[in-house]
Amino acid sequence: MARKKIALIGGGQIGGTLAHLAALKELGDVVIFDIAEGLPQGKALDLAQSGPVEGYDAKMTGTQDYADIKDADVVIVTAGVPRKPGMSRDDLLEINLKVMKSVGEGIRDNAPNAFVICITNPLDVMVWALQKFSGLPANKVVGMAGVLDSARFQHFLAEEFNVSVEDVNAFVLGGHGDTMVPLARYSTVAGIPVPDLVDMGWTTQEKLDAIIQRTRDGGAEIVGLLKTGSAYYAPATSAIAMADSYLKDKRRVLPCAAQLNGEYGLSNLYVGVPVIIGENGVEKIVEIKFDEQDKAGFANSVSAVEGLMDAVKKIDPSLA
Ligand code: LMR
Repeated sequence: MARKKIALIGGGQIGGTLAHLAALKELGDVVIFDIAEGLPQGKALDLAQSGPVEGYDAKMTGTQDYADIKDADVVIVTAGVPRKPGMSRDDLLEINLKVMKSVGEGIRDNAPNAFVICITNPLDVMVWALQKFSGLPANKVVGMAGVLDSARFQHFLAEEFNVSVEDVNAFVLGGHGDTMVPLARYSTVAGIPVPDLVDMGWTTQEKLDAIIQRTRDGGAEIVGLLKTGSAYYAPATSAIAMADSYLKDKRRVLPCAAQLNGEYGLSNLYVGVPVIIGENGVEKIVEIKFDEQDKAGFANSVSAVEGLMDAVKKIDPSLA
């Protein structure tokens, strides 16, 4: 069987972590693309030299040439600028939109059959633009956010309940911004819904509300601590879970920014929803039942994403 090829567009902190994880999990050979001279080559060589210790033999290449991503099976995009303390993800819109244009064209010309996972912020609108610039089918272009946001929610819940994260299931929908929608009703510990655990006295509603808010602010909390950039371990792990589900046709149900085509009553927009990821990319968008509060939260998040789409269309009318 031919080895799979994973192309990473952006050789920064997330790109390097992605390369390491892809190698450790033996997902395939890895090409790191970055415009910074020497950076992807240096990271690729360093990672290749950890292969003999770890026992992986993935081929690692660093490049400034899009031709080297030719026929990649998976492309993960982290290119662009991360935010700094005091900034919102939305402040990156204009600068990262330009990056999405050249990345989209590079993918279109060299890896048109790839499954593309975008991590660049502001996420939902960047993945929407990337899909348009690349011209790839929408079921093959997704954004990584829900897995990350849900992992944060899971971590905070496990910590509060003092139980293993393995037994906590949680999920977060909506846009990957301040309006994201952590859904306690659909989150469980060993199958027990979190609101029932509040009734059982495992925590209080006030503490649960604080955890929900901390989840919404999860990215900013890390930006505030790191001061020089944003999170990279958890975003990379989350994108690798999505790539793994695609490459191995696992059909995992993962919350991702996916293009809606009538689901949830919306079209031609990317927003975080649960999807099944298999060998065809997004195999199905799962439409969950909302109660009135979830519905209002999701609608609020969708209008924030739509607002950013309007701003993007003004900057680049070709996307209108
Ligand atoms: C995150 O949630 O960690 C990323 O979106 C990066 C950021 O700016 O918060």
